[in-house]
Amino acid sequence: MSEMKKKRLLSGRRPTGPIHLGHVLGAIDSWASLQDDYECFYFSADWHALTTGYQDALEIERYTLENWADIIACGVDPERSVCFVQSHVKAHAELWLLFAMFTPVSWLERVPTYKSQQEELREKDLSTYGFLGYPLLQAADILIYLAQAVPVGEDQASHVELCREVGRRFNHLYETELFPEPQTVHTPFKKVPGTDGRKMSASYGNAINLGDDPKVTEKALKQMVTDPARVKRTDPGDPARCPVFELHGCFSTDEQRAWVTEGCTSAGIGCIDCKKVLIENVENRFGPVREKRAELLARPDELKDVLRDGARKAQAAAEPTVEAVRHALSLGATDFGAD
Ligand code: TRP
Ligand code: SF4
Repeated sequence: MSEMKKKRLLSGRRPTGPIHLGHVLGAIDSWASLQDDYECFYFSADWHALTTGYQDALEIERYTLENWADIIACGVDPERSVCFVQSHVKAHAELWLLFAMFTPVSWLERVPTYKSQQEELREKDLSTYGFLGYPLLQAADILIYLAQAVPVGEDQASHVELCREVGRRFNHLYETELFPEPQTVHTPFKKVPGTDGRKMSASYGNAINLGDDPKVTEKALKQMVTDPARVKRTDPGDPARCPVFELHGCFSTDEQRAWVTEGCTSAGIGCIDCKKVLIENVENRFGPVREKRAELLARPDELKDVLRDGARKAQAAAEPTVEAVRHALSLGATDFGAD
């Protein structure tokens, strides 16, 4: 596809913790492969991180840098994609503020994640103005680049829907066609189980992080839960009921999975044998990523320069949109020519 014809795509993630294997298979891998077909903008949503965790402000910068080392090590290329940090592009905040003027509070209250997150994350204070505005800030993130495509998980679909409604309302109110309707890009969905068999998640304490020492990863996988019916080495097991086998589904070849199925159901192999193969596959896949990430983190100033450069490119893309919005709201004329 020629550069000219590529559609613009945007996605972000909150720098609230280390990147784990579930993030890589669920999102980062697709960020990397989407670079072939789209003009990509990827960013760390550090303001969004504050809306869900203003108490953890001190952590955000560290995770921003570490997350970028992970993301770049996984193949997102700042030479091909605009990689930046949300708070470096202040215009997102201006657009959020202007959108807030005509967005009914009821639209935000009825976004399903508003209530569900408050219920799920009881330990957090999500009763803030900022958290209510979360999806509106997300709409500004997307519309400011006139992005046509947004790859996000199922949980974010309602946010992209709100974004379309906000853009439509703006276009209608100010009689323009400025904002396109961004489409949700559904990427191949992979559920990655954590070491306790539940979905891998930092909040469950069952995650394997990209930056973890290989010894730590090996230990975690060795202790991972298996088919509960397989108590003794001589008991046959059922891979369909085993989260270790689910991980084989993410990292092993068809032959290896056939070998596991045969050996597990006949008690021909033990869980340790089975896990050894998995551990090796995980290391083969992520060992080089870990090295690359360490190289990047060893030179934080260079990494910061990369992100500053990304912010400059993002600003240049964002500014005409914000200028058009100011103009539609008669704001440009009222600063009496000040810079
Ligand atoms: N809400 C997204 C998440 O938690 C992060 C995000 C912020 C985002 N702004 C965005 C994603 C714009 C896509 C587009 O995962
Ligand atoms: Fe699970 Fe493998 Fe043990 Fe079977 S052999 S129960 S698939 S860990």
